[in-house]
Amino acid sequence: MKEDCFTIDIHTQRLHIRKMIPADLEDALEHRLHEDVARYTTDPMTRGEAIAFYKKRMAQWNGGDGEWLSLSIILANGQKAIGELGFNYVARKHNLGEIGYRLNPAYQGNGYAFEAVDALMWELFGNKGLHKLIAICDPRNTGSYRLMEKLKMKKEAHFKSHVFRRGEWCDEYVYSIIRNEIT
Ligand SMILES: CC(C)(COP(=O)(O)OP(=O)(O)OC[C@H]1O[C@@H](n2cnc3c(N)ncnc32)[C@H](O)[C@@H]1OP(=O)(O)O)[C@@H](O)C(=O)NCCC(=O)NCCS
Repeated sequence: MKEDCFTIDIHTQRLHIRKMIPADLEDALEHRLHEDVARYTTDPMTRGEAIAFYKKRMAQWNGGDGEWLSLSIILANGQKAIGELGFNYVARKHNLGEIGYRLNPAYQGNGYAFEAVDALMWELFGNKGLHKLIAICDPRNTGSYRLMEKLKMKKEAHFKSHVFRRGEWCDEYVYSIIRNEIT
């Protein structure tokens, strides 16, 4: 099998971030299927759909435009995968990428999401040649855009009635940060 487009293996003070592997599946299903985590992000999924979704995510990642890489956020002092980071190139030829993030509710509010996304940002800008990173959220998703603002991302767009999710048309905020803006 060919190698992934690139490898992520980051250790922070409290976390280990690396590509999701089959051993993470049960932990990943815990947050993927949790209604509070899914509310502003995805349509409801059955367990079977979520397993199929992750099987695809764990296959070889080629870094094609729109192709997501799933990374597990693992507690450094244990084996628990408490959340997930996603990355894809919006346009690889422009080194323009997008991140996503989700945390098991039992572990939210401890700064883990900030610690994980901040570390991934430094890796992407510092070592993977990224030029610009965006993140997208529903305007009702206060936790998500507060996290982006804490990461020094700036609101760049408010798309009205932009995606059809959970039976309704939803707005979306787009936040961004450019390589020379990270401090
Ligand atoms: C978004 C998410 C990852 C944040 O996780 P978290 O563990 O609470 O984040 P952190 O503890 O690192 O907090 C980061 C900052 O955001 C703020 N924040 C987090 N959740 C918040 C909320 N619901 N309301 C207001 N502020 C919030 C925190 O207060 C913190 O800022 P502070 O240090 O200045 O207080 C988590 O809420 C989540 O998984 N949500 C569901 C999935 C999702 O919506 N993902 C985003 C898709 S666009």
